[in-house]
Amino acid sequence: MKALVLSGGAGTRLRPITHTSAKQLVPVANKPVLFYGLEAIADAGVSEVGIVVGDTADEIREAVGDGSRFGLDVTYIPQDAPLGLAHAVLIAQDFLGDDDFVMYLGDNFIVGGITALVEEFRAERPDAQILLTKVPNPTSFGVAELDEAGVVVGLEEKPKKPKSDLALVGVYLFTPAIHEAVRSIEPSWRGELEITHAIQWLIDGKRDVRSTTISGYWKDTGNVTDMLEVNRSVLETLEPLQEGTVDERTEIIGRVRIEQGAKVCGSRIVGPVVIGAGSVISDAYIGPFTSVSENCRIEDSEIEYSIVLSGSSVTGVRRVEASLIGRDVEVTPAPRNPSAHRLVLGDHSKVQISS
Ligand code: G1P
Repeated sequence: MKALVLSGGAGTRLRPITHTSAKQLVPVANKPVLFYGLEAIADAGVSEVGIVVGDTADEIREAVGDGSRFGLDVTYIPQDAPLGLAHAVLIAQDFLGDDDFVMYLGDNFIVGGITALVEEFRAERPDAQILLTKVPNPTSFGVAELDEAGVVVGLEEKPKKPKSDLALVGVYLFTPAIHEAVRSIEPSWRGELEITHAIQWLIDGKRDVRSTTISGYWKDTGNVTDMLEVNRSVLETLEPLQEGTVDERTEIIGRVRIEQGAKVCGSRIVGPVVIGAGSVISDAYIGPFTSVSENCRIEDSEIEYSIVLSGSSVTGVRRVEASLIGRDVEVTPAPRNPSAHRLVLGDHSKVQISS
């Protein structure tokens, strides 16, 4: 069995963060979301992985390398344009050969991994197996319709009037039967070869398509609230670690991970919190469910339930909460008199001011 991991796409839903970076590399608890997927694939006993890459190919290659650190053997498959998930299968045919495979969308996050699912598929080998989950916003997903017996009878991509609230999760298991399907379908209204249509083609041909419904799923559907929530759920399982330096004026409460080269002084940190390598926290309060990435500086400030990406600084500001701060950002106080806000915000930024 092989894995096909999709890491192309533009990431419009996570702007402004994805203006400058691949959506699959957005960190969750200081680790790119893609890495959780690769680890889940390795845990499931699959080691030959094809990664389909697009415009952000260089960045993905730099982050993942040859895959050996995940115990994987990675082959990169360039996709010239984002022509759809079924198109990705089409161009990966040489790599996939006659093997069964798990297709994993690199921006999806599955709590608890995919080992049980892969084992079930290996034992039963239906033509295809899909994952479903209940979502509040089915119009943003592929949506499944099940009959009374729970068998999938129809799939629709981003329907205006969804027939259920069961969305297709971005993990699919296929036998080589999918290759004929992806060759047989036409592009959708959005100009893409949809994997949803390829699976529908199998259903119409009375092939064996099964589904499993899961909970504990996240995908970027555009709001920071979701990202903060998935960050929180990962931090809930954080193993404490102390690799940096912490002075005696600092108070650490609960599960806190302080990575290599980080320095904490005169601060109070209430976990779960992760402080990335090389970051400096001084005279600050870092509250629960906060991820501070590498090389950040939090000084004379209070922050909680937030994500701060690498190279950013927050100085003299209280209190920041429920915030997503991008890379190399500076947050400082404005002059007190006149009482005014001074903002330099990039395209598609969102800001909430308490006044
Ligand atoms: C794709 C699929 C969709 C699925 C979703 C899950 O959507 O087309 O059926 O529900 O992934 O992540 P896209 O990310 O291309 O909008």
